[in-house]
Amino acid sequence: MELFVRKKPPLIGVDISSSAVKVLELSKAGDHYRVERYAVEPLPRNSVVESAITDVEQVGAAVEHAIRRSGTRCKHAAVAVSAAHVINKTISMPTGLSEQDLESQIEMEADHYIPYPLDEVNLDFEVLGPSESNPNEDEILLAACRKEVVDDYIAVLDRAGLSPTVVDVESYAMESAYGLIARHLPGGGMEKSVAVMDFGATTTHVNAVHNNRSVYTRDHAFGGRQLTEEIQRRYGLSYEEAGLAKKVGGLPDNYQTDILHPFMEAMCQETLRALQFFYSSSPYNSVDQILLAGGCSQIPGIDELIASRTGISTLVANPFTSMSIASRIKPQTLANDAPSLMVACGLAMRSFDS
Ligand SMILES: Nc1ncnc2c1ncn2[C@@H]1O[C@H](COP(=O)(O)OP(=O)(O)OP(=O)(O)O)[C@@H](O)[C@H]1O
Ligand SMILES: [Mg+2]
Repeated sequence: MELFVRKKPPLIGVDISSSAVKVLELSKAGDHYRVERYAVEPLPRNSVVESAITDVEQVGAAVEHAIRRSGTRCKHAAVAVSAAHVINKTISMPTGLSEQDLESQIEMEADHYIPYPLDEVNLDFEVLGPSESNPNEDEILLAACRKEVVDDYIAVLDRAGLSPTVVDVESYAMESAYGLIARHLPGGGMEKSVAVMDFGATTTHVNAVHNNRSVYTRDHAFGGRQLTEEIQRRYGLSYEEAGLAKKVGGLPDNYQTDILHPFMEAMCQETLRALQFFYSSSPYNSVDQILLAGGCSQIPGIDELIASRTGISTLVANPFTSMSIASRIKPQTLANDAPSLMVACGLAMRSFDS
């Protein structure tokens, strides 16, 4: 489901998140994907705040750089807004309506479900299937996002010379990328509950999946920026220096014990808390697998630590394990970036939607 679709030429996935713009292009032959091009371009601090674009010019320039560095020829892009900006409602409609009738009925009814004037939102829907309680009705998933949020994404792409072909929702893109990984889980992920913990820079995006369908999403205000700021304070470094030191090392010996380990324990606490929230607001009371995504999951040993603190098998996500990789891409660099590229990957997959 997308908030905004046109006929689709090849498109590039553009993930605009709080610390960086990530662009990724895939090709597909049969069932097989190939990573053609990608680039990650850091964003100036506070140009994206609380999952909304606050500086169209800066973010647009970063997208333009990323596109140029990637070398892509795509002129069309898929972007995603945060689930936090999207209102979802499931409603019922009589079966057998023509697409046109369905659309006009939904438009009439949406008024009751969406707490904004309809001319201020982008509205989309997906027919989920027959209702369990009434076989004469279909269940329809409605999604609405305020136009002003979507418009900023469109302005950014425009600034970078891209045309917005798909405006998706981050959690749906995450779900698509998860599907690639689920194939390698025991039983293909069926009958299993999996908690995807995406530890980003400012936000931890929690996505619980059952039978390969997302059943719960929630954002927690926790992320790698806390670690960066701690390094800044402790060693008197700039934000950029601290961010770099996290990745390439070179910090004093006491970094591991005094700063990194407490942060890793905080990631474990956040995971336990996320699971508690999930259990208390859903019929579920266990998960079979934890999947770590986001830049913080690159911290060596974090998978083992989370596994031992939660008692749940934990893996670091890599959506590219069964893809080929174009020779211009360094496999090791892509492997390192992979957990932070889940959303970009899910967006790039929209190129092949029928
Ligand atoms: N090797 C590493 N070790 C530790 N932290 C890392 C490493 N590589 C990246 N990070 C951290 O991961 C974070 C960025 O991750 P990611 O790209 O997933 O965030 P984001 O998607 O921009 O953020 P958000 O989803 O919160 O908007 C930064 O805080 C960065 O410092
Ligand atoms: Mg992110």
